[in-house]
Amino acid sequence: MIPDDFKQTLLARVDIVEVVERHLRLKKAGANFVACCPFHNEKTPSFSVSPSKQFYHCFGCGAHGNAIGFLMEFSGMGYVEAIKELAGGAGLTVPNDRSESHGRPQEPGADLGDVLLRAAQYYKDELKRSERAIAYLKRRGLTGEIAARFQIGYAPDGWQNLESVFPDYRAKALTEAGLVIDNDSGKRYDRFRDRIMFPIVNPRGAVIGFGGRVLDAGEPKYLNSPETPLFEKGRELYGLFQARGALREAGRLLVVEGYMDVVALAQSGVGYAVATLGTATTPTHVQKLLRQTDELVFCFDGDDAGRRAAWRALENSLAQLTDAKRAGFLFLPQGEDPDTYVRAHGKAAFEALIAEAVPLSTFLINELTARADPRTEEGRARLLHLAKPLIEQIGAPALGLMLRRRLAEIGGIGLAELDELFGVKRVKTSRLVGMAQRAAVLTSSEVLLRAVMFKPDYAAAIDRSILDPSDLATPALTGLLDLIEASPNLDARTVAAVALEQFRDTVNAARVNAAATRTLWDESFDVTAEFEGCIGQLRQRYRQRRMDELRQKPSLSAEEQGEYRQLLSQRPGAKMPNSEPVSSV
Ligand code: UTP
Ligand code: MN
Repeated sequence: MIPDDFKQTLLARVDIVEVVERHLRLKKAGANFVACCPFHNEKTPSFSVSPSKQFYHCFGCGAHGNAIGFLMEFSGMGYVEAIKELAGGAGLTVPNDRSESHGRPQEPGADLGDVLLRAAQYYKDELKRSERAIAYLKRRGLTGEIAARFQIGYAPDGWQNLESVFPDYRAKALTEAGLVIDNDSGKRYDRFRDRIMFPIVNPRGAVIGFGGRVLDAGEPKYLNSPETPLFEKGRELYGLFQARGALREAGRLLVVEGYMDVVALAQSGVGYAVATLGTATTPTHVQKLLRQTDELVFCFDGDDAGRRAAWRALENSLAQLTDAKRAGFLFLPQGEDPDTYVRAHGKAAFEALIAEAVPLSTFLINELTARADPRTEEGRARLLHLAKPLIEQIGAPALGLMLRRRLAEIGGIGLAELDELFGVKRVKTSRLVGMAQRAAVLTSSEVLLRAVMFKPDYAAAIDRSILDPSDLATPALTGLLDLIEASPNLDARTVAAVALEQFRDTVNAARVNAAATRTLWDESFDVTAEFEGCIGQLRQRYRQRRMDELRQKPSLSAEEQGEYRQLLSQRPGAKMPNSEPVSSV
């Protein structure tokens, strides 16, 4: 048996959008993501994945579940296998069956996340002790405050320093975490030695890897953690966790190339920068970033390499953009990077550059006209030929239209001709809108189920005695209330996924799913109003029910009389049945 609390931790640690994305191409649709359903044959997407509720649902065939369920259904994995697969990706170790473990306590450091956290703490402590490392950071203009914010550390020189940090230096988790390397003769040594350490954290703040910079000249300048179950370079961005406040305030995210760029920008008050980790910008990066903000600005060096990197970023952004989002490109003067620029010219000058970033559409057209001469027929033909695969990727209908119109102009043809040439079909309106309109009226327990799924805190405010015993959804609701009471750490993001897990293969699971599904299309409903309204109604109905019950009784005990008086006082004008008038009232 895998313990329930482990499943809860697991479901809180994974992101169902990422899990599904590994197998399907998802498109953003409002707060959710959609795709053509992998579980039945269809041409328009009815398969929805909810990041805020951590579950999926197909409006076409009804398939639904949490991340565990998706892997089981999609990959045909067994239950335990699916959990192990997810746990591996999240850096968790599935606790052994009782039968296997013989009550042995779990090996210390079996959790990669713990190992990385402990290493980060060690590097941070070592930074305090190294005057040379501190002097280096100061020379680069960093304050202790910014170093602390990014948890910057120092890996001292020496081959086996981590031996003093971990009780078992031979543990497999250390290799898996990428902290040590075994050489051919089996001798183990620390990967990072005499380097400034930049911990890479995931969006939830957990350390998943490191970048280490040499202090003086040396090769390689930056050494990064290898890819591990926790760390995939093409998915992660340095600084995203630290940027979460500033990006909201600024309403944009800046993508730069280096660790030091992110840190130096933050030091100068530009806190909304993130960096790719020595790789090109991937569609996953863009997707991840556009989930956080409506405006992305890519910032590259002004040289050829910078332009090439920018073009890659453009190519990998096209499919991710919606009409509500925009991307721009900022090219720095030759020889500058964001770190040197902001330190020399300050925040205001840097933000002035951002304000003049080239919109993606302009960059696209400029590059195409540079690659194919629009002054000749052949050049225009080639330009359209180069544009076609790019335009095909654009999912944003208005942006696609603008660009096609512009290309038709440049190409000297009509829009209809261009659309014909590009094989553009008319966009159909989403079926989900129709589904929302057909949403049935909810019972009171369904309303509460849904409210509690939005705000698990509400669970404590529900007096179970007022629930409607004839409502078919009431057992699911009380089951969910039990679950929340027993697991104080459940949050709004995981509560549906955990509940589905808890009630797997029971009728309650179907009820929970039904309630959770409604959260998929109804983003506008006011949880507090709905919750309070429902509780108010239930109280009234309960009061009526209970008073009727008491009135039926031939006589009332003193306690029942008290209760009746209490109920009565909630609405003036009713009389006490079958009991002596109470003189004291
Ligand atoms: P840069 O060489 O532009 O470094 O590499 P930088 O950020 O300006 O660093 P400083 O200012 O000299 O400290 C940009 C990014 O490319 C990756 C790192 O992610 C780095 O931040 N890189 C670079 C490596 O992974 N390995 C390297 O050897 C060099
Ligand atoms: Mn630099």
